[in-house]
Amino acid sequence: MKVIIAKDYEDGARKAADIIEKIVREKPDCTLGLATGSSPVGMYQELARRCREEGLDFSRVHSVNLDEYVGLDGTHDQSYRYFMDTNLFNHINIDKKNTYVAKGTGDIQKNLKEFNEILDHADVDIQVLGVGPDGHLGFNEPGDTLWDGAHEETLDDSTIEANKRFFASKEDVPTHAVTMGMGNIMRAKRLLMIISGNKQEAARRLLMEDRIDPRCPCTFMRMHREAYVVIERKLADEIGYKG
Ligand code: GLP
Repeated sequence: MKVIIAKDYEDGARKAADIIEKIVREKPDCTLGLATGSSPVGMYQELARRCREEGLDFSRVHSVNLDEYVGLDGTHDQSYRYFMDTNLFNHINIDKKNTYVAKGTGDIQKNLKEFNEILDHADVDIQVLGVGPDGHLGFNEPGDTLWDGAHEETLDDSTIEANKRFFASKEDVPTHAVTMGMGNIMRAKRLLMIISGNKQEAARRLLMEDRIDPRCPCTFMRMHREAYVVIERKLADEIGYKG
């Protein structure tokens, strides 16, 4: 695991964008695994700038997203489809037909079948990841066991609590989500995690311990052959990570 310490959020966004840019330039028809949340927003803004000002070309890129809330249609402003459109896809020259965010409404079992079929055929060159305060990846919540493929999760109270800042009230936060499984995530050729915000415990478990623990799913990153973690200096200092 390669840990990249960034001066601040903006520096982390640039360093993470460098990793994505290298892949897109070397393989213009690559597949990007994408994530939502506040952690990757700065990187998406930087990639959009490089597309606009430096000719970074996404016209042949495909993408597949980690997860989606159950119950929110893609037009809902808190759905992850809406997030991806407004934070990235509307600002780069990607063909939206080549982007996939699982559907969170309608027949969920049918949606999951489609999600799993997409994932079975996708050869993800790099999977972008944030991390939940409880260590979740995508919406793979901590537990005694984790899932291999795409599935539905019941969100932990701590996740609902952490995500309520985006909704009018806690009651409005969906209680369920569809998400890639841990196997899907681990099968990506590369992983890129951006750790930002109040993630001290998850960051400590990932960077300071040697244990792989399903009760802290982000620790599985340690097993990947090509995993990058971008972390801000302040957070690294708070957990005593020296590099
Ligand atoms: C949600 C997403 C995760 C994301 C997490 C952290 O729970 N499902 O994929 O990593 O939020 O979000 P943030 O980056 O806003 O802290």
